[in-house]
Amino acid sequence: METIVRQARAKLNLTLDVLGRRADGYHDLCMVMQSVALSDRVSLCRTGRRGIHVGSNLEFLPSGRNNLAAAAAVCLCEAAGMDWNGLEITLEKHIPVCAGLGGGSSDAAAVLLAVNDWLELGYSQKELAQIGERVGSDVPYCVLGGTALAEGRGERLTPQPALPWCFVVLCKPHFSVSTPELFGRIDSMKTTCRPDTEGMLRALKAGDLQGVARRMYNVFEDVLPRNQAGAVAEIKNSLIQAGALGACMSGTGPTVFGLFDSLTGAWQATRYLRELYPETFLTVTV
Ligand code: C5P
Repeated sequence: METIVRQARAKLNLTLDVLGRRADGYHDLCMVMQSVALSDRVSLCRTGRRGIHVGSNLEFLPSGRNNLAAAAAVCLCEAAGMDWNGLEITLEKHIPVCAGLGGGSSDAAAVLLAVNDWLELGYSQKELAQIGERVGSDVPYCVLGGTALAEGRGERLTPQPALPWCFVVLCKPHFSVSTPELFGRIDSMKTTCRPDTEGMLRALKAGDLQGVARRMYNVFEDVLPRNQAGAVAEIKNSLIQAGALGACMSGTGPTVFGLFDSLTGAWQATRYLRELYPETFLTVTV
């Protein structure tokens, strides 16, 4: 039986700004996104079963169409007028779930790219990103990957010069956040501090890693409930103490990451934080 395998990379938000609520209930965003090497392994094969099925090393993940990976396959097959019956998707999850790292969106993007190749559908990356938009706001970026500015709902993408290669320590604190709830908190509070997105884009263009790290900013950090904000601040402090050039929360959290130009510092932070938070990872930018 033929099996096709793809890596689905985690993403970070180097900046995240919420510009306002839209008539469709979504929000206009302005984010600088970055892929890292930490990946899920996504495999696809055809079986004789009816329907579409998702298996995973994490038992609590949905196995049907409410898993973004299955939703992506259905959207793509529907667009192409193909039959998805018998499609079996296996996710070997390494990216923490519900963590602000785009794991589910990245799995969905990997399925779009894999099915497109497998069934020789011939969609361009841009067309796959448009199909991905129906699955989730971060899916278009995950189809593209690398360093990019994402605007609108997250679907208007402008590739940027690659972030200078560096080490990244990711640490997921114990609490979980609800994305719609956090957007609701943003709506009810006045945003006073915003990321310097233009400055971030200039730093990327100049290949200035320190300048990038200095400008990392996520408006969602400012609307976290007090105890959660405390945990995020402590992790950021630990990362900086170990030598991170900058530290920030990714997406709607709760994962916090730090950028390092030295493996020694990155490894020191990983060892220290892993004792407190088992979901701590050392990875690199791609
Ligand atoms: O598009 P996705 O399903 O990933 O979005 C999850 C939730 O995040 C939405 O239901 C919405 O509450 C919020 N969201 C938003 N504006 C965006 C992206 C997401 O309000 N641009």
